[in-house]
Amino acid sequence: MKIKLPGHKIREEKALNENKRTRDKKNKDEKTVLSEKSKFAIVEAYKSARTNIMFSLSATDKKAFAITSYAKGDGKSTVAANLAISFSKMGKRVILIDCDLRRPNLHNILKLENKAGFSDMVGRMVVFDDVVNREVLPCLDVLTSGTIPPNPSELICSPEVSRFVERLNREYDYIIFDSPPVGVVADALLLKEYIAGYILVTRERKTTHGDIEKLLQNIKVTDSKPLGFIRVGVTHEGKRGRRGYYYYYYYQYY
Ligand SMILES: Nc1ncnc2c1ncn2[C@@H]1O[C@H](COP(=O)(O)OP(=O)(O)O)[C@@H](O)[C@H]1O
Ligand SMILES: [Mg+2]
Repeated sequence: MKIKLPGHKIREEKALNENKRTRDKKNKDEKTVLSEKSKFAIVEAYKSARTNIMFSLSATDKKAFAITSYAKGDGKSTVAANLAISFSKMGKRVILIDCDLRRPNLHNILKLENKAGFSDMVGRMVVFDDVVNREVLPCLDVLTSGTIPPNPSELICSPEVSRFVERLNREYDYIIFDSPPVGVVADALLLKEYIAGYILVTRERKTTHGDIEKLLQNIKVTDSKPLGFIRVGVTHEGKRGRRGYYYYYYYQYY
């Protein structure tokens, strides 16, 4: 006989809600990652962002750029994944690296395992060739974050990263870093010497003018360069008044 303890119903309900939340998040992530099914306007918006970024990079001797924003949950990882997909569609060799060693998410968005990755490689526990996900899509390799380390800032500063980026420069046409938000910690800004600059993500109805000011200030203080903004989560009111259509929009900062 099964004895039902008080509170079991609450636990059951909690588990059901948890499942629903995971399912909803999965569906949402699927919708926000570029695929054959993506809306024309979204694919085009990423293409135009891609063109702008290519022009910005061509003015420097760098092949790398990083995506950051003011706060967590703004959409950095989603934008990083979509830009990487868009760049790889041109037939150029692209590597996407999850450098958010505090709250990594790229592996969830791209449905990859994250047993080992960037942090383990920089900590010299594994070698790049053993942990990189080759050809996640044609021309697109992805390195997930790896084990969450106790000292993310020190890892990003380590000389191993500089050797690693040198190698990537030889093997790839574009290097894209998904990085942490710069509102609280400055890990993302430690990448500045390897990259041409930062693509800044702002989110409609979330990012405030104050956030943008602080974001730009943090970037300026470290002498880094903003390459442009990508605004996400813009709802577009359709002809029949249907809402909930996610739209990406890009404009050049400089
Ligand atoms: N343009 C968008 N429209 C709607 N939801 C989005 C959009 N971009 C990201 N999201 C959702 O927001 C959540 C956080 O996104 P994520 O890219 O992980 O943010 P960050 O890397 O800045 O923390 C995810 O659940 C993602 O599906
Ligand atoms: Mg992220």
